[in-house]
Amino acid sequence: MAMPLAHDDLGRGAPWVLLHGFPLTRELWAPQQALAARARLVLPDMRGFGATGGAGPTSMEQMARDVLALCDGLGLARFGLAGLSMGGYVALALHRMAPGRVGALVLADTQAGADTDEARAKREALAKRVEDQGVEVLVRDFAPKLLSDAGLEHKALVQQEHAMVRANQPAAMAAALRAMGARQDQRPHLAAIRCPTLCLVGERDAVTPVERHEEMLQALPRGRLVVLPGAGHLSNLEAPDAFNERLGAFMAEVEPHLRSAPVLRPS
Ligand code: MLT
Repeated sequence: MAMPLAHDDLGRGAPWVLLHGFPLTRELWAPQQALAARARLVLPDMRGFGATGGAGPTSMEQMARDVLALCDGLGLARFGLAGLSMGGYVALALHRMAPGRVGALVLADTQAGADTDEARAKREALAKRVEDQGVEVLVRDFAPKLLSDAGLEHKALVQQEHAMVRANQPAAMAAALRAMGARQDQRPHLAAIRCPTLCLVGERDAVTPVERHEEMLQALPRGRLVVLPGAGHLSNLEAPDAFNERLGAFMAEVEPHLRSAPVLRPS
């Protein structure tokens, strides 16, 4: 069953749903709230995260169903969808389940492939440590990977990141780690994504590097790639002006398409 998602619903215009990454919350999108001047932004805390809370996800598809139910409740038949990292995994799952609902897609600092066995085993070990010792394990051992070296020098940015991690509960973060470890390989599905798709990635993204986005680009029928100079994995936080400029331009470009496209309901 879908879980009601705590969310912000800001601005007016063509609707965009922005999905945050792990182990964060919708606060990730604080710098993108400026884009509410040109679009309607729906920013959920996903199952297990932030003010939504709960037991945590068992799959990316379960999180996608929550997002679809939220959009149903808001009357959004068709919308732009942007996901950063884990949010991108959920966005790809959602598109696969309900392609007619997504009029334009942004895949930011993410990847389409599944985990290797080794990566899955590492996630399981981390999940156990989080269950035993709490989310400080993520603050200490996971959060630093999400920023570039320059980003790590930026105290306010690091504090902002840590505050998001600490807004989450250990059991839910362990569940999310396991759900990411079990996620499907979405690469065979990329060729079926017919909507305009923007891949955005920080030049210094160490978690889902530029090459992963180049691979996606090869398979996406209507894809394009923008690399944000100097930024790490959380490119929207580290390079907010460049990120907003690119995302805002894409929003403006696809707006007529979002407004005029035929409405398809999920089965
Ligand atoms: C994220 O930023 O959402 C995570 O780092 C993604 C992952 O661990 O695969």
